[in-house]
Amino acid sequence: MYIIGEEEVEAVQRVIESKQLFRYRGGEGGESDSFEKEWSEKIGTKHTLAMTSGTAALIAGLVGMDIGPGDEVIVPGYTFMATPSAALAVGAVPIIAEVDSSLTLDPKDVERKITERTKVIIPVHMVGLPCNMDAIMDIAQRHNLKVLEDACQADGGSYGGKRLGAIGDAGAFSFNHFKIITCGEGGALVTDDRDLYERALIFHDGGATFRDHAGAMRTPMFAGLNFRINEILSAILRVQLTRLDPMLDAMLTEKRTLVDALSGAGPFTFNPIHDIEGDCGTTLALMFADEATNRRFIDGCRQAGVRADTPIDSGIHVYSRWEPVLEQRGSHNPAFDAYQLTDSPVAYSKDMCPTTLDVLARTAYLYTDPTRTRENLMAMIDAVTQVARDL
Ligand SMILES: Cc1ncc(COP(=O)(O)O)c(C=O)c1O
Repeated sequence: MYIIGEEEVEAVQRVIESKQLFRYRGGEGGESDSFEKEWSEKIGTKHTLAMTSGTAALIAGLVGMDIGPGDEVIVPGYTFMATPSAALAVGAVPIIAEVDSSLTLDPKDVERKITERTKVIIPVHMVGLPCNMDAIMDIAQRHNLKVLEDACQADGGSYGGKRLGAIGDAGAFSFNHFKIITCGEGGALVTDDRDLYERALIFHDGGATFRDHAGAMRTPMFAGLNFRINEILSAILRVQLTRLDPMLDAMLTEKRTLVDALSGAGPFTFNPIHDIEGDCGTTLALMFADEATNRRFIDGCRQAGVRADTPIDSGIHVYSRWEPVLEQRGSHNPAFDAYQLTDSPVAYSKDMCPTTLDVLARTAYLYTDPTRTRENLMAMIDAVTQVARDL
C-alpha cells in the first residue's frame, strides 16, 4: 500500500551520518521525539509513544490502563490475532464479540458480552473502516470501561471529525510493511491521559529509570521491557507522515469513483460505513446474498486481472482460525497463562460468532491504489462491471 522513495533514503542517510541511532541519546529534538510530536499533532492527542510494532502499542496501551489477570477485554471476531494476543500478554482474557455488516465491532454484541470482569473494549478499525465509535463510547461510559482503539489498519482515518485513535482512552497504530504508511516494522500508542502514557513509557523501556525524563514522572517505576523505536525508523516515519494525507485523499477519491461506477452493476450492496468521510479508502467492500455468488465474483475478477478477495479467507484475521486462543494456550508457561489466572473460565468455539462468519464469507474486497492511473482505474471498473453483470 505504502509509497516510499528517495526522501526516505535521504532521511536514513541523515541518521546514519549523525551516528546517532538510539533515541535516548542526544537529548530532545531527535527523530523519534520529533516524530512523536508530529504524530500527536496529526492525530490530535497530547501524547504519542512510538514503538517497535502495533502489537507493542496495544500491549503498552493495556499496561497503561492497568489491565491484568482476572480482567476481560472485548475484541471483535474479525481482527489480526495480535488484538486478542495483546490481552493475553498482560494476563487478561480476550472475549470475542461479533462484527456486523460494517465489518467492525457490533455494539449490541459488545453489550451482551459485558460481565463484572470486563475492563476494556478494543474496537478495531479493520481495513481502514471506522467503527461505530459513538455507540462504543456510550457503552464504555455506561459500564465504566476503557476503550483502546486498534487503528493498526487505519493510520490517519477519522470518525466524526476526530482522527481514529484519538476518540477512545488510547489508540494503537501499526507501521508494518502492510500498512498505509510504514517503516518496515513499527507502531505508536496515542493518548491524552498522562498516567496511561507514563505507564506505557515505563513498560516499553526497561531503562526508563535512567532516562532524563524519569525525574519528571509521577508514576512509580516498575520493571519494563524493550519496545523502543530507533532513530532510523522514526526518520522514515517522519517522511511517511508527509505522504499520509495525500494518500488518504487519493484512495478515498478512487473509492468514490469505484462506488459510483459499480452502483447497481450487479447483485451486491456496499457494506455500510460508519463515517464515509473518515474511511481510509484502502478497501471497497461489496456484500453478496450468499458465499457462492461472492466466490464466483472474486474468481471472475481475478481471471480479469483484478485483485479481489474475501475476508473469510484472510486466515489469521478471523477468530475461527485463532487456534492458540480458541484452544486457550495463552502463554508459554501455565503460571502466566491468563486462562489459568481467571476464576471465570471462558468457552470458545469455532462457530461462536455466526454473524461474523456469515458477513465475512459474503463480502468481497476490491482495493484502491493511490498510484494507479485514471486509465487503469477505468480499465478496472470495466472489468469488474463485466464480471458483476455476468454473475
Ligand atoms: C488490526 C491489527 N491489529 C494489530 C496489528 C499488529 O500490528 P504489528 O504487526 O505492527 O504488530 C495488526 C497488524 O497487522 C493489525 O492489522
